[in-house]
Amino acid sequence: MKEKIKSIEQEINDFEIKDLAILEKFRIEFLGSKNKLKNLFGELKTVPNEEKKEVGQLLNGLRTLAEEKFNNLKDSLENNNQEASSIDTSRPGEISEIGARHPLMQVRSEIIEIFSRIGYTVSEGPEIEDDWHNFTALNFPPEHPARDMQDTFFVESDKGEMALRTHTSSVQVRVMENQKPPIRTISPGRVYRNEAISARAHCFFHQVEGLYIDKNVSFADLKQTLLYFAKEMFGENTQIRLRPSYFPFTEPSAEVDVSCTICNSKGCNVCKYSGWLEILGCGMVDPAVLESCGIDSKEYSGFAFGMGIERITQLKYKVNDLRLYSENDVRFLKQFTGNI
Ligand code: DAH
Repeated sequence: MKEKIKSIEQEINDFEIKDLAILEKFRIEFLGSKNKLKNLFGELKTVPNEEKKEVGQLLNGLRTLAEEKFNNLKDSLENNNQEASSIDTSRPGEISEIGARHPLMQVRSEIIEIFSRIGYTVSEGPEIEDDWHNFTALNFPPEHPARDMQDTFFVESDKGEMALRTHTSSVQVRVMENQKPPIRTISPGRVYRNEAISARAHCFFHQVEGLYIDKNVSFADLKQTLLYFAKEMFGENTQIRLRPSYFPFTEPSAEVDVSCTICNSKGCNVCKYSGWLEILGCGMVDPAVLESCGIDSKEYSGFAFGMGIERITQLKYKVNDLRLYSENDVRFLKQFTGNI
């Protein structure tokens, strides 16, 4: 009996199976309704009682061997079959989709590029900022209502109460504290304000801050720099207009409009029929701010400006809902493939 089991085991191991038809033969021979093992199981009653257990185990092992061989080969032969029949060598290759840079990042790069052509470096600062850099050094007195202009998110940290920066003007302070004039730098970054989210407002957005400090820097330099920027960003025929304004950290301060690029200043619903679009705030750095940052205001003067990247992008690409920038809807993002 044991001899027979050995020889069938040998047969199972030696059975060469190259395709599904041979596999079927194997199945009939060793696992089918009249398979070879059945006879042996039938003969089990002739085996002396004391050997029954051992022989029974050997027979079961034999059946497992046949089943495993069958299942393994079945899987691999079927897979091969499928692969072979599903390869269509005449089919064009699959085109892998090229991602697009986010429109805000494209515009950010463009702004950096425009200013780097006139000698501006890039400086960055932390998004979680202390009161000094976000407010006090920028001439916001404690408890002064000007702090309410910016709805601040406060966070607790091991350094005490900190703020999520409400503007990139905080980086101005850090740069002036750490560098000696002449300073010519821009600071792009994300800022936060506690605003209800709508088409026109968001709780986070992006700004670029500009700072120029040297001897004899004048308001005319500021105006010329901004005109250069507007023409590079929106086209050669773009005009700018400055309106007096107020910021605690600049004196005098102004808001800057560009001629409406959408209607060529003829009047449309984007410029509200005024022909002008507001793009940034600016001014001459207040001497008190220079002094707070360790710069001698009798020797040096300078200008600063700050713009929203979302606003510039909105005007350049006619995006009229701020929420689109952070929803990551590919139908929106795909439209920017192929730009810089
Ligand atoms: N920090 C201002 C804001 O977030 C923008 C700004 C205005 C920046 C005037 C400046 C500036 O540097 O001179 O509204």
